[in-house]
This record gives sequence, C-alpha cells and structure tokens, in this order.
Amino acid sequence: MSKFIVRPNGPLKGKVNISGAKNAALAILPAALMAPGRATLENVPDIEDTQVMVEILKSLGVDINRTGDTLHLDIPDKPETTVPYPLAKTIRASNLLLGALLARCGRAAVPMPGGCDIGARPIDLHLKGFQAMGAEVTLSQGAVVVEAKQLYGAKVYLDFPSVGATENIMMAACFAEGKTTIENAAKEPEIVDLANFLNALGAKVRGAGTDIIRITGMGPLKPVNYSVIPDRIEAGTFMVAAAITCGEIQLTNVISTHLQPLIAKLKEVGVNITDNNGLLTVRGSKYLMPADIKTLPYPGFPTDLQSPMMALLTMAEGTSIIVENIFENRLGLASELKRLGASIKIEGHTAIIQGVSHLTGAKVRALDLRAGAALVLSGLVASGETEVCHAKVIERGYQRLDEKLRSLGADVELVK
Ligand code: EPZ
Repeated sequence: MSKFIVRPNGPLKGKVNISGAKNAALAILPAALMAPGRATLENVPDIEDTQVMVEILKSLGVDINRTGDTLHLDIPDKPETTVPYPLAKTIRASNLLLGALLARCGRAAVPMPGGCDIGARPIDLHLKGFQAMGAEVTLSQGAVVVEAKQLYGAKVYLDFPSVGATENIMMAACFAEGKTTIENAAKEPEIVDLANFLNALGAKVRGAGTDIIRITGMGPLKPVNYSVIPDRIEAGTFMVAAAITCGEIQLTNVISTHLQPLIAKLKEVGVNITDNNGLLTVRGSKYLMPADIKTLPYPGFPTDLQSPMMALLTMAEGTSIIVENIFENRLGLASELKRLGASIKIEGHTAIIQGVSHLTGAKVRALDLRAGAALVLSGLVASGETEVCHAKVIERGYQRLDEKLRSLGADVELVK
C-alpha cells in the first residue's frame, strides 16, 4: 500500500504551478462525448481520477492520447452507452456520463455510484431532472439506466444546489426540445467552466454561476479545443501548506476570485496574502488565530478545503469551530489528527478544535482525498516522522503532490 513519509523541514519557500481543476475536467470529459470529431482538452491534470475517466471514454469508443497536460480525443459518431462496472465504480464522476450519453444517444447505463468515506452521495436529484425532461429511469443489474427517444425542456428545482446534478441536467438539456431552467443550481466555478465548454461546442447555456441556469436545446454540436480552469482546491491546499509551515510561497496558474472564501479565512487567522495579476503570494505567520468555519455551497467556504483548514487550526492559539454542512461524514480526519496530538472534539457535524503547541509524527491513514492531503500538511510540522498510508486516494486528486512539496523545500517521500 502506497504511503507518504513526511518529516518537518522548516518553512516552505518558492513557487508552485497549479494544475488544471480535477472537478472541472471530470465534467468536461464526459461532455466532450456530445460533439463527434477531433477535440483537444488542455490543462487536464494527470491524476488517477482523470485516468479512470479516460479509460471509461475509451471503453465507449473514444480514441484518446495524452501529451503532457493535453488530451487529444477523437469522438465517435455512435459511442457505446453502457459504462463498464469495474471502471465506473472507482470514481464518483462516472455518474456524469448519464447526462452526456442521454443527450447524445438517448440512452445511458452507468453502475449505481456507491457511497464513499464522506457520505452516501445519492443521485436522486440527477434522476429527478432527467425524468422531468421525459427520460425513463430504471435500475437494472446494479446499473442506473436512463432512456428517452426525445428529451423535452423542463423547469427543474434542485432541493439542494448539487454540483453533479446541475452538471448532468445542464448536459442533458443541450439536446432537449425547447428550454430547460435549473433553479437553485450550483454556482461553483467548475459549473461555469462546463457551461463555457458546452457553449464553445455550440450549445446555449446562460446564467451559469448564478442560481438560475437556462439552457436552450440546440442541434448538433462541434468539437473544439478547450483549456480547463486551474484547480482552486489544489491551490488552497498549497496556501494552507504555506500557512502551517509559516513559509512564503507563490502560486502561479490560479484564479484568485475562485479562492475568496479561503483567502478571507486565512487572513482572519493571520496569514498574509497578496495577489499580483494572478501571482498569489502567501506568507504564513508565527501566531495563528483561531477561526470558525461553516462549509456551504459556493460561494460559501468549500467543503473540499475543510480538511486542510482543520489541520491548520489544530495549531491556532485558541478554540476553533468547524461545521460541515455538505457531507454527512466528512469530519473523520479529526480521529487521525488526534493520533498526531491534536485536540478535537466531534459533536454531530461540528468539530471543536483546541489549538495545541505542537504535533508529534505517527502512522495515520488517508480516509479520503482531502483528509489525506491534510495529514501530509500536518506531517510538515509534526516532530519526527509521519506516515500517511492509503496514499492512493491522495493521488486521485493531486498531481505530483510529493514533487511539488519537495520543490518548496518539504521533506516528503511517496513510497509506492
Ligand atoms: C462535487 O461532488 C465534487 N466532485 C466534490 O469534490 C465536492 O466536494 C462537491 O461537488 C461539493 O462541492 C466532483 O465534482 C467530481 P454534490 P458531487 O452533488 O457533485 C447531496 C473532491 O474532494 N446530494 O454537490 O457529488 C450529497 O449527498 C470531491 O474533489 C443529494 O442528496 O457533490 C451531498 O450531501 C469530494 N442528492 C450534497 O448534496 C443528489 O442527487 C453535495 O453533493 C446529489 C447530491
């Protein structure tokens, strides 16, 4: 089992280039199926989740090869519409093939996504949207099957501004007859990136980034060359790495407007952050103030940065409170941080964090992608050696995390 071995090595210093956004790429790759022909996607991070998505697209008949962070795709006229079980089970984003294939081929069969370490993660809102547009939804041999001879524009209200449901319904609506409105839509930057990609293909998606998105069904779409936005969660993880080590790092290839919730919170705890036309400089401070965080849909504080912030707040001078409102099981990191000497009490969806003066290295386990990254950050300041096992989950979402941290002076080794 692969593991990160981390030892303290002083403040991080230097420049780090942020990769393309995992969660934008995982929506845009399925969407590329909607336009037959040759396409190019740039700034696609080479991480396990995108590698699995590439394998899924290949199984559907897409020819894909990668040069660096660029994917060259040749989309077939008639893609397969059944996503293979073994591949689909490994990534949650496989459910995004439902909307793309339903739009393009009138049918999609995708293995029912399981829950994961952070929660049950149902797809009821996705399916409600497809049904509103006239699709028939059935469960057959563990797969969700959606079918429709013709989709019709509909008004869909999302009980929760689900990122995946917004993306799936947006894709399906591109080929529906008439107009579709998504109300209480998710507003994440990755939603806007997907809408921009669909519009580049020739779709008509308006209002992405607001809570009402309007899609007008169009004719055939044309493949394009497109570049994925930078990963705000990877950027935020490195910003916290600078803060926890009291270092000074510069981040390139970031869109700071996507990071406002984190920037505000880091400034609150005493971190100095300056933005010079896309070059973000983060200077840690010796004394970290406590802070209270509530995770919320964008533009609220992102749940994906809750874990790195929990790691940081274990070192603050006082008591901090984190309330996790998005996933019902995303505070599990606390038990691993306590093995390093952190003082955290969990009450329901709330973590009460009493800052401590130091952490001590130990063997810990990455429960999910972001919790794993948070443990690596704690290992940068815990005395002695910290071993973060189950590192494979971290590689799902961070491209060469060990190399990038080492380039900033960290003593980190990834043992496969
Ligand atoms: C996306 O997951 C991201 N994943 C997650 O990133 C991110 O944490 C999440 O959005 C929230 O921002 C990808 O984009 C691949 P949701 P998604 O649908 O789409 C409930 C990471 O670490 N819900 O917005 O699955 C659900 O249970 C990952 O990069 C329903 O009840 O998130 C959850 O409590 C983790 N019914 C909440 O909504 C539904 O039909 C948020 O889920 C759909 C969702």
